[in-house]
Amino acid sequence: MLVDPPLCPGPRRALSSSPMKVSSSPKPPADVDADTVAIGIFESAGAPEGLPAAAAELIASGEARGSAGALALAHADGRRWLLVGLGKREKWTPEGARVAAATAAGRLRELSTAKLCWALPEGAGEDVAEALVEGTLLSLYRFEGFKSARAEDEPPGEPSELTIACPPELDGAVARAALIATRVNRARDLQNRPGNDLTPTSLGEYAQRLAEEIPGLTASVEGREALRERGMGAFSAVAQGSAQEPALITLRYEGPGAAGPTIGFVGKAVTFDSGGISLKPGAKMAEMKFDMSGGAAALEATAAIAQLELPLRLVTVIGATENLPSGSAVKPGDIVMASNGRTIEVNNTDAEGRLVLADCLVHSVSEGAERIVDLATLTGAVIIALGSTYAGVMSNDDDLFARIESAGAQTGEIVWRLPLHEEYDALIKGKYADLDNAPEGRKAGTIVGGAFLSNFVGDVPWAHVDIAGSAWDLGRAYVGKGASGYGVRLLVELARGFAG
Ligand code: BES
Ligand code: MN
Ligand code: ZN
Repeated sequence: MLVDPPLCPGPRRALSSSPMKVSSSPKPPADVDADTVAIGIFESAGAPEGLPAAAAELIASGEARGSAGALALAHADGRRWLLVGLGKREKWTPEGARVAAATAAGRLRELSTAKLCWALPEGAGEDVAEALVEGTLLSLYRFEGFKSARAEDEPPGEPSELTIACPPELDGAVARAALIATRVNRARDLQNRPGNDLTPTSLGEYAQRLAEEIPGLTASVEGREALRERGMGAFSAVAQGSAQEPALITLRYEGPGAAGPTIGFVGKAVTFDSGGISLKPGAKMAEMKFDMSGGAAALEATAAIAQLELPLRLVTVIGATENLPSGSAVKPGDIVMASNGRTIEVNNTDAEGRLVLADCLVHSVSEGAERIVDLATLTGAVIIALGSTYAGVMSNDDDLFARIESAGAQTGEIVWRLPLHEEYDALIKGKYADLDNAPEGRKAGTIVGGAFLSNFVGDVPWAHVDIAGSAWDLGRAYVGKGASGYGVRLLVELARGFAG
């Protein structure tokens, strides 16, 4: 009897490095149970207090410098002291702390450090304590589950414990940052998993597992039939070319003492985007396994919010499907109808994200969302416009945009607003239907995507975050190549703002 081989060999071992144990301690770093203490030093400032003589001497002699990125190592009191240059005190930001933590972590990995203690610089607050945790956990992330054996050039050990030496009033911030950074790394796992492993169905199963594990969180997953019954002709059109069942994933969370507007997260989760009949060129097509990054961020942020028991109501909608060419695939010129009755000419099957999101946004509104944020790797054009530095945001609401902008400034996931305007609406008017999913010419590619989506939210305050430039190869010290988990921390921070 012939047996179908499994779709994917599956991971050979743990998908990513095991999560670090993170704690905080009011003790001086010298008394914390650690083999290495990392201490930041500012440029042209004296040595921080509590340093052993051997470390203070490195500063006095100039071997340990305060310029950003400088590292020097001393041995004293039976442990290593890693002196980490932070740059000028006046110019120092939480982002600088993330970078410093990543620089230190890289060195610590070489040194086979097992237990690390970071001394919080004098006078630093919650945001820096959080940033040190984030920078450490995010930079130590590796995805290696599909490699049969450890590579020879990999260091033998991984730091397994991190203690932040800080005043006790920062304990909560440290624990929260550890929880959130761990969820960012889980989003990176989802992003990194290949399309034959992370199918829409397996993403749905993962969401259901999260809902089983986390109190207050529920999930429903619906397939092809349900999409048709719901009249989701746009989402269905993308899914019809693939043998894989699509998944409409709806998560709900209601926190204790929930108040304020119901927040709606919406995520694009195209588990592989070949372009469909409008096939993409072969170069770098493999990267399109990351086209589910918006969905991964929305999902993990939702899990983090539920774990933190934030007092708010949240509904998260994730549209998962493959975009493939086949005899049953949607064709250029086809006309489809979204669940709000708008008709769409599919002039380019590679502009599939907006088709999936159209129905997901309508669904989010009908599920009661009163402020909607969608995250999507929607356009290559946003990479041209903003690179990986800023994500592009389009919004119909100034207050919601301002909240996203300030959340992003806090987490380092900075955003730049792009305009909506009637003239852009004119560009997406269809010739034979209400809307055109991909107008000819390449004017304002990112904005046109946002303008298209604005047709599916009615009057609800909404913002669209185009993360095509930031979801992978972000190029930061703490998230360099590959999946970045972009958006998880941003959405959690935004939700914390709404939770008051
Ligand atoms: N997933 C892509 C966007 C993308 C491209 C993300 C490159 C990351 C890197 C999206 O589905 C897409 O193909 N968009 C098209 C839209 C166009 C056909 C209107 C694009 O950007 O080329
Ligand atoms: Mn596409
Ligand atoms: Zn896509």
